[in-house]
Amino acid sequence: MSFDFIRHDVKEQKANYRYRQLVCNSTTSQGKEIVFNGKSYLNFSSNDYLGLNNHVEINKALQEGADKFGVCASSSSLVTGYHYAHQALEEDICQWLNKAKCLLFSSGFTANLALFQALGKNEESHFYLDKLSHASMIDGAYHSKAKVKRFNHNNIEHLTKLLNSKTNFPNKLIASEGIFSMDGCQAKVLELAQVAKSNQAWLYLDDAHCIGVIGNEGQGSNYFADIDITMATMGKAIGTSGAFLTCDEDLHEYLVNFSRHYIYSTAISPAIAWATRKSISIIQKEHWRRDKISELSALFSELLSSEVELVVTQSSIHAIIIGDEKKALSISEYLKKQGIWLTAIRPPTVAINSSRLRVTICASHNAKDIKYLAECINKAIA
Ligand SMILES: Cc1ncc(COP(=O)(O)O)c(C=O)c1O
Repeated sequence: MSFDFIRHDVKEQKANYRYRQLVCNSTTSQGKEIVFNGKSYLNFSSNDYLGLNNHVEINKALQEGADKFGVCASSSSLVTGYHYAHQALEEDICQWLNKAKCLLFSSGFTANLALFQALGKNEESHFYLDKLSHASMIDGAYHSKAKVKRFNHNNIEHLTKLLNSKTNFPNKLIASEGIFSMDGCQAKVLELAQVAKSNQAWLYLDDAHCIGVIGNEGQGSNYFADIDITMATMGKAIGTSGAFLTCDEDLHEYLVNFSRHYIYSTAISPAIAWATRKSISIIQKEHWRRDKISELSALFSELLSSEVELVVTQSSIHAIIIGDEKKALSISEYLKKQGIWLTAIRPPTVAINSSRLRVTICASHNAKDIKYLAECINKAIA
């Protein structure tokens, strides 16, 4: 039979407790409740960190954007797809993050592929990636023509050693996530920026889990330092869809001219771009959303039994390390029976023997939800 590996690999995935399957979410209004197969659960696996999905003003802006510009861009940006909605959103983002230029992409995954492939033009480019970088950064880097090195997670010493171990190459890019997706820890942004500067390297941060949540106006990593290139998805805290990349004028011009992912793809929906402007203005003003995440996160950590191995963070993401895939799955199943939706994260998403429950605490949760979650986790683990 052709492509025999298909059945074989799926069978092996099942045997290893790594099997994944789609479950249709039949929730009608997104929030902290989620409905699967007619049963309602308290959702602790959502990336809607600020609780902005289905916000009435953002929905209204989406409708307004659709009426003004249409739902579809109907072309790639360089043909006729670049609308006023896109331009206005890019300008808002530049002001928000204090950056010269911004470019929109259909997803964070694509933006990462685009950036690494554009900068990895040949072997003169050297990329230094944190070991826990997202799959899309790794794919982008390794599919480029650059030389790729991985430094130990958040380990500035190791990064410095790698930078010093090579004769001086002209094009060096240090890359990390701002907040790491699977453990919620923050990158050492200031130190990375200093190392980049002293080694004439550029710093690239993927702020997918940082934007909106960190910084006095939710600016993410740029709140702490002036990051050369930042990417953030709009499908998490921002509550819309797509992604943006900020950079200087020269790189912007280069990407517009040479990035295949940008050039040969339909521009994002102008209606969504319009809605995203509204979302960003709410993010800048409504500080209570970030404060609530911090308060509820502190409460969660306080209520967990000492036997629960929690990674303590300043973000919305709180990982409880279980280790074994089978055990992580069975705890996740137990929690489902208690009405809690908490997906077990297993290899290859995380390293072998580090399967975990990835709890996300959002501004839409309240103290009662957190108390119930902690009580159920304590019962399941302790
Ligand atoms: C760190 C990180 N970067 C990039 C992405 C991809 O972004 P998008 O969902 O917009 O493709 C994700 C997750 O979805 C992510 O967690």
